[in-house]
Amino acid sequence: MRAYRAKVVEPIHLPDRDEREANIEEAGYNVFNLDSEDVFIDLLTDSGTGTMSDEQWAAMMRGDEAYAGSDSFKRLQESVADVMGFENIVPAHQGRGAENVLYGVLVSEGDYVPNNTHFDTTRAHVVNNGGQPVDCPVDVAPDDPFQGNLDPEKVRELADEVGAENIPALVVTITNNSMAGQPVSVQNLRDAREVADEIDATFVIDACRFAENAYFVQQREAEFEGSSVAAIAREELSYADAIVMSGKKDALSNIGGFVGVRDDELFEHAKQRGILYEGFSTYGGLSGRDLEAMAVGLREAVTQPYIESRVEQVSELGDLLLDADVPIYAPTGGHAVYVKAEEFLPNIPREQFPGQVLVGELYREGGVRAVELGEFAFPGEDRPQLVRLCLPRRTYFREHLEHIAETFEKVGERRDELSGLEIVWEPPMEELRHFSAKLEPVE
Ligand code: F0G
Repeated sequence: MRAYRAKVVEPIHLPDRDEREANIEEAGYNVFNLDSEDVFIDLLTDSGTGTMSDEQWAAMMRGDEAYAGSDSFKRLQESVADVMGFENIVPAHQGRGAENVLYGVLVSEGDYVPNNTHFDTTRAHVVNNGGQPVDCPVDVAPDDPFQGNLDPEKVRELADEVGAENIPALVVTITNNSMAGQPVSVQNLRDAREVADEIDATFVIDACRFAENAYFVQQREAEFEGSSVAAIAREELSYADAIVMSGKKDALSNIGGFVGVRDDELFEHAKQRGILYEGFSTYGGLSGRDLEAMAVGLREAVTQPYIESRVEQVSELGDLLLDADVPIYAPTGGHAVYVKAEEFLPNIPREQFPGQVLVGELYREGGVRAVELGEFAFPGEDRPQLVRLCLPRRTYFREHLEHIAETFEKVGERRDELSGLEIVWEPPMEELRHFSAKLEPVE
């Protein structure tokens, strides 16, 4: 049951079929090129796209816009200390700004950085600072409740191979966005802490979806049965030396982020780098209003009614898709359902981007915007061809989920008529191609 009701609404509109066909063709079969007014249900990302609460909007009116020492910053500081257990924070305009601040201080040329699985921007910031990102996910068993876990043995092997002195930081991303949004157990975070101590590395948690992760722990890790999500959230993060946070996820805000650190010296370095790239250390590229929205959002994120309806809605979408015979990654993660595009469209070869074909067809059939995470987004990487359906927080209702499932059914009925896609224009940086490249159907 959704633990909220609508107080402000935004009309959405499904363009008719001819318009949708024209729009997707004009967008070069790339949904990043669509205008949002032409999208009926937007599942591109859960980042900054959610609905704020009345309390958040009310708090925004209190935004203190002082350049230095604003009250809003103090309120964010208090909230992070209460909810996440970090007293020292450096605010940033969003998660990747926080990554730039922290990894710019921690990582240098020739370093290695292990992570359960790097999210794209994390990977890019490690590389940008001369480091080499190394994914160390567990080898998953099908009924493993914590498929997002780190494999500590892989970190030990890496340290033996490259030398522990070349590993300045160990990162664990909760939930694991690049592993279908799967959770990480508290026990795994304890194990990660132990390895970090052995190799003398700073233990960083990418906490973007820390509240969703805490909910999974409450539901699945025996030790925490009956504990509050708020208590689990603090327990999770208590093992880390530092956190990087995108406020656009579990701070339930439209923009913002921060770094949290325990060590005073690291804090001072991060603060100075924050001033250089983000803005003075009490606003970090944000307005006082944005800081207020995060301060309230963080507290709401760890309340049981909110987090339960959030994660259960994702699972509800997963169930509707399974009923419609759509192959999905199961169990569903905390923020999105991941569809196995190669199984859904077996006639489209990988070089012709089955995931991107599916994304285009979801728009054509139902005005639904999803995102491809396969050959188009990650050229040449041997990974499954997935399409991610991300649910914005507190935004859509059961009818919308049903529309998504019906749209899949309609695409499925036409699967034998669909053709693959080829790229006709791409930007110079291949890693960024899925944001702007243009495609055409293969003749
Ligand atoms: N870390 C993780 C695990 C993320 O999922 C993201 C963003 C970031 C860092 C960067 O944060 O966007 O505020 O700069 N993920 C979004 C997504 C973009 O769609 O998954 P940001």
